[in-house]
Amino acid sequence: MSLQEEINKRRTFGIISHPDAGKTTLTEKLLLFGGAIQTAGAVKNNKIKKTATSDFMEIEKQRGISVATSVMAFNYRGKKINILDTPGHKDFAEDTYRTLTAVDSVILVIDCANGVEAQTERLMEVCRMRNTPVIVFINKMDREGRDAFDLLDELEEKLSIKVRPMSWPIGIGATFRGVYNMHRDNLNLFSGNKTEIEKDVVEIQNIEDSLLEEVIGKEDADILREEVELVNGVYGNFSREKYLSGEVAPVYFGSALNNFGVQELLDSFVEISPTPQGRMSDKGFIEPTHNKFSGFVFKIHANIDPKHRDRIAFLRIVSGEFKRNTFYKNIRLDKKVKFSNPTSFMASNKEVIDSAYPGDVIGLYDTGTFKIGDTLTEGEDFIFKGIPSFSPEIFKEVQNDAPMKTKQLEKGIAQLTDEGVAQLFTIQPGNRKVIGTVGELQFEVIQYRLKHEYNASCSFRHRSHHKACWLTAEDEEKIDEFVRRKSSNIAYDKDGNTVFLADSPFLLSQAEADYPEIKFHTTSDFKLDKKG
Ligand code: G4P
Repeated sequence: MSLQEEINKRRTFGIISHPDAGKTTLTEKLLLFGGAIQTAGAVKNNKIKKTATSDFMEIEKQRGISVATSVMAFNYRGKKINILDTPGHKDFAEDTYRTLTAVDSVILVIDCANGVEAQTERLMEVCRMRNTPVIVFINKMDREGRDAFDLLDELEEKLSIKVRPMSWPIGIGATFRGVYNMHRDNLNLFSGNKTEIEKDVVEIQNIEDSLLEEVIGKEDADILREEVELVNGVYGNFSREKYLSGEVAPVYFGSALNNFGVQELLDSFVEISPTPQGRMSDKGFIEPTHNKFSGFVFKIHANIDPKHRDRIAFLRIVSGEFKRNTFYKNIRLDKKVKFSNPTSFMASNKEVIDSAYPGDVIGLYDTGTFKIGDTLTEGEDFIFKGIPSFSPEIFKEVQNDAPMKTKQLEKGIAQLTDEGVAQLFTIQPGNRKVIGTVGELQFEVIQYRLKHEYNASCSFRHRSHHKACWLTAEDEEKIDEFVRRKSSNIAYDKDGNTVFLADSPFLLSQAEADYPEIKFHTTSDFKLDKKG
């Protein structure tokens, strides 16, 4: 198969939602419809959760929060579909943001009773930054929820995106009868059967077909006709171009728990979603059809086997063909590396692969050399842009509770921060370590993992900083002067860049006003800007 054909075959997307909207349930149902898993059980049949989805880490099982991001691939209608799962919990937002750099589109799951929630808004902001195409799935239609028109208004208002319903619900909750697919002119009837793949599809000629009355009764048929007319009038025709450019989000209604609307979603997804896209590098845009291999690491996952301290780096292939046992260049280290056991993630199985193509996500075994954001190429010198670190919001100083285990602690902290669990800053005097995160939960994760994986123990002392700002200036002298003046708020990141730990928004704006020659960056993207 040619490179172009391999690209055309692939679809790589993420499912995002506010926690509890039904992301895990929908993921499992997509795998079920894709034939990747066989058990059509209720979600909390934890067996499925453990084998098929994202519970790699012990801590995650204990908490029941989808901490890790995982990848699941399956074949459906001649396409190879890669789903990248994302943690919904806000404390792991950064992990999710990074994963979104590796997808070409997303499915956003909304709970029909709760509508747009806090985390939905934040995640969509990240999608908007990159114009990622979005499909919306309004879930839990078997439960009492909000009026469909209200939900659509809210989506448009809060997520600043236009919507286009592709199906329309008949009733909701106790009166939910099914959906009318406007795209295909058929009725999909809801039976509330949790285990069977839905079958009750009634083909009708069009919305005026008298079969409609026969199937759902006159009253519901009248309401449906009226609403569909309104929808067509208000939302106009669906434009795939506008979906692909991130301007319009097609909307589907269903109930993941009941397998309802899932097939319809999957079929449409395969039809309209984008093929693997290229990525911007510091040397220009790299097309997927560029015949030399390139890719970037967006996630590092530790200790899938707790007996070994190996890690898996998740690499998204951007261009060309990746081959096993071939030397590729890690641009940051200026070093050639080859991989004898690259793995793919076909649902619950990990298997060694010989080659992979744009859109694919592969796992590379790593003993501690990779960092988040690393670019691999066949030798060409460029770095992919767009995996920034954001300024943390919570800062704590590390206290070593077991001085005999200092080495273990240092190694553990260095590796965990390379994985992107948190950011590490060093302050003087005494090379003290400050960890910065976006959520409290990470500190628990760090403590837990240091203990279980590195046999080290530490506690944290809170530091009251508001933001970390990376500093740049045309004239390095200015930074030196600033560092001398503000020494108690100066730290260095892992790469030795100077960082100002501002104690409050007021003190930050005061520093900006006092030092107009210095730029204060709240994301680490500036590093690439300097090069690019
Ligand atoms: P998440 O990954 O987005 O956090 O959500 P998840 O799929 O875990 O679903 C959250 C809850 O919502 C689960 O119930 C799940 O069963 C339920 N759910 C998902 N889809 C539907 C749906 O279409 N209809 C209804 N009625 N419920 C749905 P739970 O009570 O939190 O847990 P459990 O039932 O799994 O014990």
